[in-house]
Amino acid sequence: MIRRFEDAGPAFVLDTEKSSYAFRILPTGQPEHLYYGPRLDIRDAADLEPLAEKHVFAPGNTVVYDSGHGNYSLEDVCLEFSALGKGDQREPFLELTFPDGSRSPDFTYVSAEVSDTPPDLDGLPGAYREDGKAERLTLTFREAGGGLTLELSYCIYAECICRSAVLTNTGTAAVELDRLMSLQLDLPAAGLSVTGFYGAWSREMQRRTVNLPAGKFVLESRAGTSSSFENPFFILHDPAATEAWGECLGFHLIYSGNHYEAVEVSPFGKTRVVTGINPLGFRRTLQPGDRFTAPQAVLCRSGSGFSGLSEELHFFVGEHVIRGRWKRKPRPVLLNSWEACYFNISESRLLRLAANAKKLGAELFVMDDGWFGERSDDTRSLGDWTPNRKKFPGGVRRLAEKVRALGLDFGIWVEPEMVNTDSDLYRAHPEWAMAVPGRAHSEGRNQRILDLGNPLVQDWLLETLSGLLSGAPISYVKWDFNRVFSDAFSPSLPPERQGETSHRYILGLYRVMRLLTERFPEVLFEGCASGGNRFDLGILAFFPQIWASDNTDALCRVRTQEGYSFGYPLSTVSAHISATPNHQTLRETPLESRFHVAAFGVMGCECDPRDMTARERKQLRSDIALYKTWREVLQYGRFIRSRSGNLHEWTCVSRDGSRAVGFLFQELAEPHQPHGLFYPRGLDPERRYHFYSLEQKVDIRRFGSLINSRIPFHVRQGSWLHRLIARFVFQPGETEDYTASGSTLMAGVQIKPAYAGTGYSDQVRYFGDFSSRLYFMEAVD
Ligand code: DGJ
Repeated sequence: MIRRFEDAGPAFVLDTEKSSYAFRILPTGQPEHLYYGPRLDIRDAADLEPLAEKHVFAPGNTVVYDSGHGNYSLEDVCLEFSALGKGDQREPFLELTFPDGSRSPDFTYVSAEVSDTPPDLDGLPGAYREDGKAERLTLTFREAGGGLTLELSYCIYAECICRSAVLTNTGTAAVELDRLMSLQLDLPAAGLSVTGFYGAWSREMQRRTVNLPAGKFVLESRAGTSSSFENPFFILHDPAATEAWGECLGFHLIYSGNHYEAVEVSPFGKTRVVTGINPLGFRRTLQPGDRFTAPQAVLCRSGSGFSGLSEELHFFVGEHVIRGRWKRKPRPVLLNSWEACYFNISESRLLRLAANAKKLGAELFVMDDGWFGERSDDTRSLGDWTPNRKKFPGGVRRLAEKVRALGLDFGIWVEPEMVNTDSDLYRAHPEWAMAVPGRAHSEGRNQRILDLGNPLVQDWLLETLSGLLSGAPISYVKWDFNRVFSDAFSPSLPPERQGETSHRYILGLYRVMRLLTERFPEVLFEGCASGGNRFDLGILAFFPQIWASDNTDALCRVRTQEGYSFGYPLSTVSAHISATPNHQTLRETPLESRFHVAAFGVMGCECDPRDMTARERKQLRSDIALYKTWREVLQYGRFIRSRSGNLHEWTCVSRDGSRAVGFLFQELAEPHQPHGLFYPRGLDPERRYHFYSLEQKVDIRRFGSLINSRIPFHVRQGSWLHRLIARFVFQPGETEDYTASGSTLMAGVQIKPAYAGTGYSDQVRYFGDFSSRLYFMEAVD
């Protein structure tokens, strides 16, 4: 709900179900932030008075805003936005240069409007409601020189407030815009902590927390993508916050390019957050009549700790960002050819793989890289999106039809934003690649990035991909992007507009994604950028799921997927079971752990079933069948973390509370620590649940030479005899089976003791390094 009071100057209160956000217009014309926190009972303007700072005098040596208001210094006021130059020394929201070279804009309040339509984001994706409406407050500010207007918009969706900003040149002279952020939040307190998610290729979303008593902490990407270096999602929180307790504010940006987030503590003990497009390398000339729109930023609050915040965000993303036919729809179990074949693919090889995928229970078969042009490694052919006739004599269509005849849907990999110089496309249109004319280009993975800011390139891409998708029965597309920007230069823009290159690229990308997903609404698109190098809400506004990491190792994945879970719902996180030893880490992990980790996401497979033993194939077949019976809960249920560290403990609960799956993963085995608890979360305390785990049959080879302590003759570890015995003999392990109320279970289930150097029995939990368990809970009343 949006409320507006006019009695003592304009003041505004934005209420979500559990939070209130308040600000007012100062006598100087700037918007002063008053409050963001648990929902308040505010009835009139007078109720806001206790929340307002008393500006009796401008402190010490600070700059006084203007001669008419000697008691106001912008240096020590909490503001809804701030521009450089009028005394505020902190991180600015807005920076611009006037024709005379001056850089001190001065915007003051003009008007406010409450409406029920979402803002026009000029081609950028934003949050939405299915009825097409929005609860929106728009504030308008005018620059003192009269030639610029700034609009700030606030939309309420669920527990989130989405903000964006538009700067319009209403004057007669051009102005240089150096930065326009999307959100500024000034809080009156210091000493908060920031949790961000950093990483690199195959190490995405590593969580770390920084306490900020003073100074500035910056998260940013200059990679051209939202990047795996720093995800645009982060949390500002009480330093003592836990998964279940404490004030947490979550920040997202609905944008896929260079971003910048700064959290700065002022010498007056106030904390400022800004988030938006990275000003580094950005510049936009606003000619008279031009406007520039900043992407939408999302602000979310929870008083119930990190998991509480994640739940709010999962709901927001699932309901107000993800759109199209695949919203809320169970996602298919796929088998992808990449780690099974890499570039070595052909129709016959893929059909064999697809037939085996079908036997496992997969529903979709995906042909990854290597199918087009002269592509047999990563040095050539990106841009030539026609099938290699030697590998695929019947083209994509014949392969797709044959895959469908096996009873599987067919999907395809593309990397449409790229070009190799060794390609027909580059030979025909070298000017379509981003490169600085006359200078050597620094390539990444032997490829260049197409100039998507150029409408001709966008149109070519649209038509090429439309031809591909209408030329064969393709129901899934994996859209890859395998390098970061270098020498960012758009040959289609004049020299004075090169500061727009990276942003125009993203706008061009969004145009293509929008038109293509509108043309092919049935197709399931999966985003990918060498894994999670572009995992953000901008991509998710078009593609409902993203390949989370090229690293499929269960231990790495548990950390990475846990990182994503802080800000993104499980239905967006694509996760595959792959071979062991793992191709990225050479680590060996049990199949059950690989399955469990992938099941807490959109599960698929990325391996050749022929490389597995018959027993593993049988196991995987039953794992996939099990996943299908629980995927509604796993993909769309409430996800709650309870522990992370050496133990990762999560629960997914169906929306009606009747079914739940618990997950317990151990990074490294702890010796002599037999007793353990599993804490389910989110159950209905009053309902009774059957809590159970599946039968365990442990391969005796996991006990190594210990076999000799159990049999009367000697078996050499790894010998044929060892292998032979292992074919027929298992060590039975524990099962759990209890029926109790949700409240009892959530108090902590004493699970069976872990092996501790002693104890061989079917009552023992063999829980070594990288071991995991799933616990199932079903309401029985
Ligand atoms: C990077 C992706 O993340 C991989 O899954 C695979 O599709 C390769 N690219 C193919 O080149």
